[in-house]
Amino acid sequence: MSVASDFVVVSNRLPVDRTDDEAEPWRRSPGGLVTALDPVMRRNDGAWVGWPGQAGVEIEPFEFDGLRLVPVALSADDIQLYYEGFSNDTIWPLYHDVIATPTYHRTWWDAYVRVNRRFAEAASENAAEGATVWVHDYQLQLVPKMLRELRPDVTIGYFHHIPFPAYGIYAQLPWRKQVLEGLLGADVIGFQRVADAGNFARAVRRQLGYDTKAGSIAVPEGEGTRTAIARAYPISIDASVYEDLARRPDIQARAAEIRASLGSPQAILLGVDRLDYTKGIRHRLKAYGELLSDGRLSVHDVTLVQVASPSRERVQTYMQLRDEIELTVGRINGDADELGYTAIQYLHHSYPREEMVALYLAADVMLVTALRDGMNLVAKEYVASRVDGGGVLVLSEFTGAADELTQAISVNPHDIVGLKDAIMQAIDMPVKERERRMRALRRRVRENDVARWSQRFLTDLDAVRSQRS
Ligand code: G6P
Repeated sequence: MSVASDFVVVSNRLPVDRTDDEAEPWRRSPGGLVTALDPVMRRNDGAWVGWPGQAGVEIEPFEFDGLRLVPVALSADDIQLYYEGFSNDTIWPLYHDVIATPTYHRTWWDAYVRVNRRFAEAASENAAEGATVWVHDYQLQLVPKMLRELRPDVTIGYFHHIPFPAYGIYAQLPWRKQVLEGLLGADVIGFQRVADAGNFARAVRRQLGYDTKAGSIAVPEGEGTRTAIARAYPISIDASVYEDLARRPDIQARAAEIRASLGSPQAILLGVDRLDYTKGIRHRLKAYGELLSDGRLSVHDVTLVQVASPSRERVQTYMQLRDEIELTVGRINGDADELGYTAIQYLHHSYPREEMVALYLAADVMLVTALRDGMNLVAKEYVASRVDGGGVLVLSEFTGAADELTQAISVNPHDIVGLKDAIMQAIDMPVKERERRMRALRRRVRENDVARWSQRFLTDLDAVRSQRS
């Protein structure tokens, strides 16, 4: 029996993971989307529709940690075709500028349509009359239209967490029209960057011929048209959570312990990524490895901690990437290490937030070298955690975060010479300049935090709702 909610969030994953512990079968999951939406959900007392993260488990809606969770079951086949296939081997590489080659399979598309319908039905069943439904991310691009057909009374928002590619790339997609129509089922379609919203509007003009003006799209409906808004709402983090953690004496002590355990080098460099080909980990390792072999850096003075959290491990491209990275790390360490000195500490794990903040505090230089990234919340987490005013952020210009974090050292990760110079500039940066830049970065992250992000999006969505009623 479903309980109707006035506010429903729909995302591929529920914000929880299954544990093996019978007493506490669920644990809050880490990750950008969950971190971003948690405060919004709590304030709005809503329901969250999503996949519980395991194959074939049918679970009734339940309460967890004050949230109402509505699980959508995915079979092993659904996971293979809809999640690993169409979502992560077609859309993900296509939308990240074809860094890896997208695969187009009609059976994957069919599964994507089928599973998107299941999510739309679950959202429809759990939404009260006139409710607001907020759909998230590239796994669910068809849900807005499907939901509108089922429930013309609800107001629908969609937020796209990853890039929307330039038209010349998007046009490859054999189902390009259907995906645009799916998204245009929403009243407000949010993107990370102004450029993403522009790419989307252009694709709509070229493929569907609809009028688009300053973020308003005239979508044919019945005899007339309905206006859909497509604009940028750069996502952020709950900055105060990171600040509070960074001020905790036990976490500061842990940061000191990490530094000491690494041999108290002059400079600790840090990379924190899901193990994904979009993150530019290979480029980062190449630049760092060359700085060591050129003699511009020495393992006596510097070490790189690379956290690469396991991700999408059954998708071939990810398996191959892991092999390449681990080979490269092994080679660099083999060449550069001396007894008691390690060039790269490679950690193929994910860690709790407390440990991440300790790492952020311990690191002198944070390296974010993504080849393409919707936002990159790690960059913002690092900045928010530096309550001591220290630390230098090296940030790829191909991240959404680069639009806002202009006081970082900006890099084109494809330019290895430039990347090497940027790493050296970060290590050698005078304290005054470091502090000045970090102050400006911190101001920006504090001002545009996740509460402001959701507020901006939901205010626009509310405006649409009041116009309709
Ligand atoms: C990105 C996507 C999210 C996704 C996350 C983890 O941040 O935008 O939608 O949940 O990666 O990926 P996964 O495939 O494990 O859900």
